[in-house]
Amino acid sequence: MLGIIGGTGLAEPNQFGWGALERQENVETPFGVGCTTSVSVEHWHAGSEKVLFLPRHGFKHSLPPHRINYRANIWALKHLGVTQIIAVNAVGGITSTLKPGTFVVPDQLIDYTSDREMTFFDGLSENVNHVDFTEPYTESLRALILRAARDVNSKNDRPVSIVSKGCYACTQGPRLETVAEIARLAADGCDIVGMTGMPEASLAREAELDYACFAFVVNLAAGVGSGSIKFQEVYEEVNKCRTFIAETLGRCVA
Ligand code: HPA
Repeated sequence: MLGIIGGTGLAEPNQFGWGALERQENVETPFGVGCTTSVSVEHWHAGSEKVLFLPRHGFKHSLPPHRINYRANIWALKHLGVTQIIAVNAVGGITSTLKPGTFVVPDQLIDYTSDREMTFFDGLSENVNHVDFTEPYTESLRALILRAARDVNSKNDRPVSIVSKGCYACTQGPRLETVAEIARLAADGCDIVGMTGMPEASLAREAELDYACFAFVVNLAAGVGSGSIKFQEVYEEVNKCRTFIAETLGRCVA
């Protein structure tokens, strides 16, 4: 079963036009130091398929990136029978060709976060466990998203730009970055920057779930454009991208 983790601007899949909401469920999880242990998940029917939806910032968009209980979210989806996760992430564009409105399915990431609960293997089990993370995203799921996005695009009057590779930088937030920080990320080889891609991706790997990221650029990262980043413009961009995201996800489910 497919699970979708929605980010900024995507807390309400009823805007997706996907079919029927069966129920919302609060799942109790074993995780929660300084944050709630329960996770709200929606059960949806899309065509003949069932799909679960989890808004990572909560249904009221109240959790900042560093307060999201990533372990509880991944644990809850696995517990409910999810085997594949598509994560939707709003990002800033570092590479200057990645302008607002561009969709990116990254193939690599660099984790710049700190102080997040980032593993299920925290010494409480008998063995020390390590997971391979050479390729952080599941290739077959990346291919599914790209196919779906291109299908939707082929029927679009105004096709969007879809980029099939890229390196996602995950910063700690909740503040945005400085010009110097973005220059450093660019020198490190990062193409896009967000605050919520990790430890979500590595926890999914630890939980043996397929995982891929569908990122959409909502602003030029600090110093890539001119002047400061305007949140009004970011939210306008999120709104513009919503239909394409919804249609692509709908096609991934069907
Ligand atoms: N930086 C970090 N996270 C983001 C950005 C950004 O510029 N835009 C959207 N999420």
